[in-house]
Amino acid sequence: MKMWSGRFGQPLDADFERWQRSFPFDQRLLAQEVAASRVHGPALQKAGILSPSELKAVVEGLTQIAEKAAASPAFLADDSAEDVHHFVEKKLVELIGETGYKLHSGRSRNEQIATDLRLYVLHAIDQAREQIGELIAALLARAEQAGSAAMPAYTHLQRAEPVLVAHWLLAYVEMLFRDQERLADCRKRVNLCPLGSGAVAGATLALDRRGMAEQLGFDAPTNNSLDATTDRDFALEFVQVLLLLSLHLSRWAEELLLFSTQEYGFITLPEKYSTGSSAMPQKKNPDLLELARGKAGRIAGDFNALVLVLKGLPLAYNKDLQETQEPLFDAAETMLSLLPLVTGWMKEVDFNYTRMQEAAQSGSLNAWTAATYLAERGVPFRLAHEKVGNAVRLCLEKHCELQELSLEELRQFSPEFEQDIYARLSVESVLALHDVHGGTAPARVRQAIAEGNRRLTAMREVAHAHA
Ligand code: ARG
Repeated sequence: MKMWSGRFGQPLDADFERWQRSFPFDQRLLAQEVAASRVHGPALQKAGILSPSELKAVVEGLTQIAEKAAASPAFLADDSAEDVHHFVEKKLVELIGETGYKLHSGRSRNEQIATDLRLYVLHAIDQAREQIGELIAALLARAEQAGSAAMPAYTHLQRAEPVLVAHWLLAYVEMLFRDQERLADCRKRVNLCPLGSGAVAGATLALDRRGMAEQLGFDAPTNNSLDATTDRDFALEFVQVLLLLSLHLSRWAEELLLFSTQEYGFITLPEKYSTGSSAMPQKKNPDLLELARGKAGRIAGDFNALVLVLKGLPLAYNKDLQETQEPLFDAAETMLSLLPLVTGWMKEVDFNYTRMQEAAQSGSLNAWTAATYLAERGVPFRLAHEKVGNAVRLCLEKHCELQELSLEELRQFSPEFEQDIYARLSVESVLALHDVHGGTAPARVRQAIAEGNRRLTAMREVAHAHA
C-alpha cells in the first residue's frame, strides 16, 4: 500500500513511478530511519496513540528490520518501495500487522528525511574526523623520521629557499587541522533534531520533541518547523568542508606527482599504490595521486549540484530536496574511501633525501641569507639585495654557487663580506636563520612537531567524546 493513495483514482504512470523513487539510493539511510522511528514510537505512546503492547511490537519489529537489513542486502530488494520511509512501513506491517501503520501518526516524511540525513552527516563527520586524525598522525610520523633532511621550497614553482622536509610535511598538517576544525564546527549546526516538525507546521500530536532529540543524541530540537523540514544547509556546509579538504588533498597529490617524476626524483612511488602500463613495460604510474587529484573535481561537482538545487527554493518542503541526497552521499563516500588510502600511501612512500638535499644546495637558495648578512653589517637591505644579485649573476656565468666564489670575488660586490660568510651560507645555517614561530629553523620545527602531536591528542579526545 502506498503512503498516500486514498485520493487517487488512477494508478501512476509506470515510468514516472520508477523514476521518482528514492529507495535505490536512500536505502543507505535505513539504520537512521529505524533509529528515528524507535524514538517516535515511545513519543506516540506518551501521546496516547500506541498502547504499551503495541509499542513493544513496533520496537521489536523495527529492531528486526534493522537486523535483517544488516544481515543480507537481499532484504532490501524491493522495487515497489517509494523511499526508505515507505520501505520500513511496509516491512513493519509485514512483520507485526496493521499496528505498523500507527507509527506514522503525527509525523511526516518531510521531518523524517531531514532527521535521517542529519544523522547520516553526523556519522560521516565523525568518521572523517577520525580518518583525518590518522592522516595527521602519519604525516607527523614522517616529519619526525625526516629529521634534519632539507629540500627546496618553491615559489612560482622555482626553487626559493631550503626548508626541512619535516617543515614541508607540516604545511599539510596545518591544512588538515583546519579541515577537522571546520568539521567540528559544522557538527554543531547539524546536531539538531527535526523530529516533531511534521510536514510543515509542526506535529499534530503533543510529541515530546526534547525527549526525542535527546534519545537520538542530538543537542536539541530544531526551532522552526518550516525551516527544519527544508533546511539542507547542514548538508551543503558539510560538503563544502569536504570540498576544501579535497582541494588540500589535490594540492598534496599534485606536489607529490611532481616530486615522483624523474625530473625531480624526490620520492619513489610505492608499488602497492601504483599501476603499470599495458603498453609500456617500464612504466610505474602514480594512479592514487592522480585519482586523489581528480576526486576534488568530483566533490566540487557534488557541491555545485547542492547549491543549484537549493537556490531559490521557496518554503517549505519541495521534492527538489530529494535531489540533495545523491550529491551528499557521493561526496561523503568519495572522501571516506579516499582518506585511508592517502594515509596508507603516506606511510609507504620513500623519500630520496639525498636528492632533495642536493636540490636544496643548488641554485643559490642561500642568496637571501647572504643579503641578510650584509644587512646585519649595516648595508641597507635593498642595496644588499642588489649586490648579492650581482654575485648570483657571476655564479650563473661560472656555473657555481655563492659559497664557491672566493672572498675576493665576493668583496668586489660588497667589501662587508668577511671569511665568516662561508659558514653562514651552509644549508644548516640558512635553515637556522629562519628562527621564528612557524619558520623552518630545526628547533622551531621540532617544537611544531611536538605541538602537532599535542593538538592531535586533544582533537582525538574531543572526537571520541562525540562518537
Ligand atoms: N524521498 C523524499 C525526499 O527525499 C522523502 C520526503 C517525501 N515527502 C513528500 N512530501 N513527498 O525528499
